[in-house]
Amino acid sequence: MNILVTGGLGYIGSHTCIKLIEAGYTPIILDNLYNSKKSVLNRIATITGKMPIFYQGDIRDTVYLTTLFSQHPIQAVIHFAGLKAVGESVKNPLDYYEVNVQGSIALAQIMRQHQVKTIIFSSSATVYGEKNPVPYFEHYPTGNITNPYGWSKFMVEQCLIDMQKADPEWSVVLLRYFNPVGAHPSGLIGEDPQGIPNNLMPYISQVAIGKREYVSVFGDDYPTKDGTGVRDYVHVEDLALGHVAALKKHDQAGVHIYNLGNGVAKSVLDVIQAYHQACQRVIPYKIEARRPGDLPAFWADVTKAKQELNWQAHHTLSDMVQDSWNWQQKNPHGYPDEE
Ligand code: NAD
Ligand code: UD1
Repeated sequence: MNILVTGGLGYIGSHTCIKLIEAGYTPIILDNLYNSKKSVLNRIATITGKMPIFYQGDIRDTVYLTTLFSQHPIQAVIHFAGLKAVGESVKNPLDYYEVNVQGSIALAQIMRQHQVKTIIFSSSATVYGEKNPVPYFEHYPTGNITNPYGWSKFMVEQCLIDMQKADPEWSVVLLRYFNPVGAHPSGLIGEDPQGIPNNLMPYISQVAIGKREYVSVFGDDYPTKDGTGVRDYVHVEDLALGHVAALKKHDQAGVHIYNLGNGVAKSVLDVIQAYHQACQRVIPYKIEARRPGDLPAFWADVTKAKQELNWQAHHTLSDMVQDSWNWQQKNPHGYPDEE
């Protein structure tokens, strides 16, 4: 069964391609390499023994998409491709709306033309906005978002929901990720941020390896157990399996929304402490001001995915930091350009 995976060479996409191959699916990857390297393909092949079919192209390029859909019968699309840096989205909102919203619409249009009516979309916990109590349930209202990245996810969700209403044959699966971290246990694939990492785990990894001096802890005066921000970290391996579980839903038309998280709340200091234990190195940190737009604490209620997808995360924070550290040690400079 051919599955088009947009953004399949990226962090979550590459882990998902491995799980797809292992589950007997054939991923066809479309990626424009904006935030990934071609050498990821070899790593996937080393792990799975299969070299995925790869198209270097852009989701906004409808001519290219048409060629791709004409060359392969595609049963479903897992749509990861997009831009994801929150701060950058505040500076360049139009780029985010163009790639994330316009790109998703272009993709869905071509899917419709080729009668491919199953899409699994990478959404984010950020769509729950600022006003909901924790833990977040899927039926909570969305909106009240503080940045264009989050709004772009909100808008794509709405486009896909409306499209399904207009044509009930569609199966639309919206997966709201919490905080994906970790790496494949082989250390061959992992998160490879360009420049200064925006997110906590890759930043800690770079401090641990000696690339950066200390971790800036953004605030210790939140109403949480130790005053630092609390999140729901989920191993990327578990997250990847969530997509395989969601694919099995693909024959059921409708809109299906799931939180993909661990359902466990951990603070910034919990993560630093766990990382210290994994790498047996001191992780220097400094308490600094809160980061604008950050919420004090959020985590997922994960009952729905467990009941309907038969999926739940199994990896602990200790597994996540160990695999992050393993990846970081084996790839101190990230992926090579060519391999
Ligand atoms: P990533 O940047 O590693 O992967 C995205 C991939 O899409 C990259 O390989 C990039 O080259 C490709 N891409 C970007 N624009 C493209 C375009 N116009 N056409 C074709 N390919 C394009 O990001 P990720 O962490 O793997 O995230 C995957 C998806 O999950 C994104 O949509 C992201 O918004 C969403 N998400 C990520 C997180 C997270 O913490 N990583 C959390 C919630 C949601
Ligand atoms: C961020 C995004 C969110 C996106 C998610 C993807 C922001 C404001 N939000 O979420 O929209 O869906 O990534 O995973 O960027 N922290 C530090 N020091 C750091 C980095 C982070 O203390 O150097 C803290 C943050 O304040 C937060 C926690 O660590 O409490 C996690 O931060 P991060 O990894 O950036 O993820 P989120 O903010 O949850």
